[in-house]
Order: sequence, then C-alpha cells, then structure tokens
Amino acid sequence: MIIELDQYFTPEKTASILLEKAGFTDPDYCLDPTCGSGNLLSAAHKVHESTKCIGLDRDRKIITKLRKENPNWLLSVANMQSESSYMRTLVASNFKVCDALLLNPPFSQAKSKYLDINYKDSQFKCSVAMSYIMKSLELFSPVQGALVIAPESLLYSELDEQARDYLAEEYDFQSICDLENKTFRGAKVHASVFKLLPKLEKIKSRAIFRTADKEIKASIVRGGAQVHTVNKSKHYGSDTVPFIHTRMLPKLFEQGVDESKRTNIKANGRIQGYCIVIPRVGLPKQAFTKTIKIENDVQLSDCIFAIQGDYHDLKNIEMRINLHWQEFYDLYKGTGARYVTLSKLKRWFITKQISAF
Ligand SMILES: C[S@@+](CC[C@H](N)C(=O)[O-])C[C@H]1O[C@@H](n2cnc3c(N)ncnc32)[C@H](O)[C@@H]1O
Repeated sequence: MIIELDQYFTPEKTASILLEKAGFTDPDYCLDPTCGSGNLLSAAHKVHESTKCIGLDRDRKIITKLRKENPNWLLSVANMQSESSYMRTLVASNFKVCDALLLNPPFSQAKSKYLDINYKDSQFKCSVAMSYIMKSLELFSPVQGALVIAPESLLYSELDEQARDYLAEEYDFQSICDLENKTFRGAKVHASVFKLLPKLEKIKSRAIFRTADKEIKASIVRGGAQVHTVNKSKHYGSDTVPFIHTRMLPKLFEQGVDESKRTNIKANGRIQGYCIVIPRVGLPKQAFTKTIKIENDVQLSDCIFAIQGDYHDLKNIEMRINLHWQEFYDLYKGTGARYVTLSKLKRWFITKQISAF
C-alpha cells in the first residue's frame, strides 16, 4: 500500500452494501476515477450484471493487476490531478459522460490540507477529497449521479463551503449512511456516504447528447382528482366526464373507457388522445402498460400517471418499458403501498434516452 496515494480501499462487503443502497437503475457504464483495488467496480458489477466497468488510478501496479483479473474492464493509468495525464488515456477519448460515478477519492495528499481548483471557469480552495469529486463530476457528467465516500467534514467544513454551493446548483444531495471509523484497514476516519443526483433540468441535454436517434419525447401527467372527493361529486350531466382510477386500469385497456363512473371535478389529468396510463400508487401490470387512445376527455385520479406524446414516440416508450420491465417495476417502492414519484419516473426515462417533461 502506498500511503502517499491514500490507498485505503473500500472492503468488499461494504462496497456491495453501498452499491445496493445507491439504487442505480442498471447503469450501462460505472466509472471509478481512483479505483484502487477495484472493489467498488466489482460490487457495481455484482449488483448490476450488465454494467461495463471503467477504472482509472495513478498507481500503475494496481492497474496492471486489475487488467489481469478483469480483462473486460476498461482501465487506464492516470493522475486525476493533471489534465494532461488524464487526457492521454483511452478512457478520456471514449467517455465524456457515464451513467454512474463511484467515488472514494484520496482524503489527503502529502501534507496538503487544501487544494486550489478550477471548476467550470471558477477558482477556489477546497479539501483534497472535494477537489477529486468536483473534477470527476466535471469530466464525466454522470447521468444517474455519483455514489460518494468522503470525509464527514466535507459536508460541513468552512473550507468546502464554496464547493458545496457549486454542487448544490447542479446536484441534489441524498444521504446514504455514515461508516464506522474502523471501516478502512490502516486508517481511522469518520467517513460519510452520500449520493449526488443531477438535477433533472441538467441531465436532459446530456441524455439527448448520448443518442444518435431522433429525440423521444413524452410528457407525464399526474392525475389530480381524489377518489373520496369524486365519490361526493355529481355523476351525471353534460359537465361530467368519465373518471379513471387505479382499479379501472384493466378494464380501460381491455374494453375502453367506462362511461358509468363520472365526475364534474376538473383537476390535473384531464386528458384525451394517445397515452400510456400507469399507476402512481400500486404496482403496474405489464399487460396494461400499453399505448391506448382515449377519444374524449377523461379525469384521472391522483393515483394515476398518464404518459402522453405522439403515437410513434409512445410505442417506442412502451417498447423500452417492456424491454426493461423488471427495472421499471422496481421503481415502485414503499413500506406500505408501493408507489413511484414523478421525478423518479422522469429520471428513469432519461436513462432510457427518453426526454420526459
Ligand atoms: C481511498 S483509495 C480508494 C480506492 C477505491 N476507489 C476504493 O474505494 O476501494 C484512493 C485511490 O486513489 C488513487 N490515487 C491517489 N492519487 C491519485 C491521483 N492523483 N490520480 C488517480 N488516482 C489516485 C490511489 O492509488 C488509491 O487507489
């Protein structure tokens, strides 16, 4: 172990737990820019079998060993503190974006307590770990975000305040856990694990950038009428429209709109035309996750989402959902009733190269 390079590796078991907790949705590419023994990448591969692993490290010996053990990984020797070193690698010429970044960078460097860094035209001081994190985010723009292991102080120190402000403009912060201070062999440190999730508006352009196909567009509408309020409302008359709630989805798909349950409540999710109707609360069924046409206005309940768009885009979306059905199904979480949020759904769409708004 080379102390100056801060070679404190994430133990295999911890790495697996963290990758499970990170909840990436089957990323195509996982990248660790200071990969060391490769334990984070191995864990990523264990949790997401189809992911391709990309690793960089300054230590040539480590990379040579990893190449022998993992001939399918793309591995390069690079000093992440030197643009010219990094730019010469195969990774740099092939990857401008990745799906998931795995970061457990050096926490210290020789005797340096801080480093001066350039981040997107700004210059400021920050901790050693923060400088690696910022540089890696800038270089690899992870579409699904980054899993970060960092010194606890990075989350509250004055030194990293400016860097945190920059990050907050582009990423949402999600705490995962704190590690025991004896987690890393040979070092006692208080480390925190968190996820940086790119803000939705920041990743749309990146997703489009990655696809050579025509942009696939959809809008996702959340219904707004509550079942108990509808039950109290008028059910007949010219100002009423059919009301659709979760239990009606099989019938909607098999027989069309049920005209008998009606409401005069006008809320979010007054829709007609081509759409894919899915539950927001309750688990989706593959057989009913299909494009349908609703001829006249209906009102959706607040337990339903409708994905709207033109017919060809919707058929394409339907195909992508079915192709990745298990992943789509697993988006629904919850200790009681399973549910999915609008932002989770949009994020997943972006990973499938669909721009959802
Ligand atoms: C704390 S270890 C983490 C390794 C791995 N990510 C893990 O979690 O097990 C930091 C790694 O960064 C590498 N490293 C140190 N300085 C570096 C630099 N300037 N550029 C690239 N890698 C560096 C070290 O060789 C070491 O493998």
